[in-house]
Amino acid sequence: MEEQIKAMRAEIEAAAAAITDSKEMYQLRKQYLDNKTGQISALMKNMRDLAPEERPAFGKIVNELKTWALDFFTAQDARLKSAELAKKNAAEQIDVTMPASAHACGALHPNTLIANELIEIFAGMGFTIFEGPEIENDYYNFTALNTPKDHPARDMQDTFYVSPELLLRTQTSAGQIRVMENTKPPIKILSPGKVFRSDDDATHSPMFSQMEGLVVDKGITLCDLQGMLDEFARNVFGEGVRTRLRPSYFPFTEPSVEVDVSCFECGGKGCRLCKDTGWIEVLGAGMVNRKVLENCGIDPDVYTGFAFGMGIERIAMLKYGIPNIKMLFESDVRVLSQFHE
Ligand code: DAH
Repeated sequence: MEEQIKAMRAEIEAAAAAITDSKEMYQLRKQYLDNKTGQISALMKNMRDLAPEERPAFGKIVNELKTWALDFFTAQDARLKSAELAKKNAAEQIDVTMPASAHACGALHPNTLIANELIEIFAGMGFTIFEGPEIENDYYNFTALNTPKDHPARDMQDTFYVSPELLLRTQTSAGQIRVMENTKPPIKILSPGKVFRSDDDATHSPMFSQMEGLVVDKGITLCDLQGMLDEFARNVFGEGVRTRLRPSYFPFTEPSVEVDVSCFECGGKGCRLCKDTGWIEVLGAGMVNRKVLENCGIDPDVYTGFAFGMGIERIAMLKYGIPNIKMLFESDVRVLSQFHE
């Protein structure tokens, strides 16, 4: 009997030595220690075949074997589990000093950067945003802006018509009428948006963006306009930049002006950018025409106002030195990734 016990112990040790996995070890443990089917439990059952006086000694050595096996398997289990944990930890180890993998990160389009910058500047002066529709009535885009059907100024903008009365707006100035019709002065709005013209070359695109400004109140003068534009020019193009107003013509303003900024590249001395003039044209503006105020039910003897409109792409091209307007619409990441806030 004792031989049998010794053999079983050796057998367990040999089997355990070949095992490297805690789950397999558990199976082996069951094979010997399971209360019903385990081989050690089976030994106990052999007791029946022994003479009664041999039974206590036999019971004792089987119990010893059982105690030994319990301790043995507990130790084996701990050994394998700690080896397995060490292996898992080694596999999952991360080097926190390693450089992170680069992620391609999107950025705002130059048009958006400029529009946001303008909104921030003018919002700081108390302007609020109004966005009009891109498909407009002939009335809002032209007639109410003092440009009736036979007016020669209509030729200034080649228009895409959707129907005889509907068109793709050629200017955000259309929004001025919508605001003035519905708002009692004081009015101070900024109106950004897409506009459309049948026009296509290096500096013109059939679709582009404008930013319109409109101020109407008692006692508004051209000086107020220039003061605000000075603020705009300094913020967008740099501290030393000045503005200059030149007489011009727009049907919806009287007087009308073209606004130049002193060349931010050469400081006004003359260079390629300003074509040796020292000045760069950036926008159109003027005092709101009396007729336009009247068209909107605002008394021009009580209220005056100024308006201005600028091309966002033009500002972006000037500020970032972009030579061709198409570069702003081609979505070429090599170009667009160069512009940051
Ligand atoms: N709407 C004009 C254009 O698209 C720009 C403009 C000029 C807007 C004078 C104005 C303005 O509000 O007063 O060419």
